[in-house]
Amino acid sequence: MEAAVCNMVEPGDRCVVCVNGVFGGRLADVCGRYGAEVVAVRAEWGKPIDPADVKKALQGGPTKLVAIVHAETSTGVLQPMEEISKITHEAGALLLMDCVTSLGGHPVYIDDWQVDATYSGTQKCLSIPPGLAPVSFSPRALKVLDDRKTKVATGTWI
Ligand SMILES: Cc1ncc(COP(=O)(O)O)c(C=O)c1O
Repeated sequence: MEAAVCNMVEPGDRCVVCVNGVFGGRLADVCGRYGAEVVAVRAEWGKPIDPADVKKALQGGPTKLVAIVHAETSTGVLQPMEEISKITHEAGALLLMDCVTSLGGHPVYIDDWQVDATYSGTQKCLSIPPGLAPVSFSPRALKVLDDRKTKVATGTWI
């Protein structure tokens, strides 16, 4: 999570972060610690994020990133990724998706959903020894990395 966020986010970037459980909350926290202007889109715990709320948040200003947890481990809720991806890219933002719990346990269509940055963990549905975090960055995300104006911060997160 931190590797994806710290590489994608620069101080002052507007980030719309979907929060409907523990890990969405952590994602918002990490984005904030890396200097993002965090706009939280919330749903009641146990309910998916409403794509219309993401659209509304994106209308609030130019947005670098929409960040979302595909499967919120704390509640078991799966998000409507296709719709959220469409809305995100229509607004010209990048899509960052946590698939820690979903990868290997549910279809995860990184290319079809045009997910720009994603990470998982080996300790959940992949069911292999813990400690590894597979990541994927799209060509668009790699361009954002190349075009960074600030260096990736170090030592801000424990
Ligand atoms: C959705 C989600 N994201 C992130 C994490 C954090 O993973 P780690 O424990 O490898 O830091 C977890 C852990 O349960 C998770 O379920």
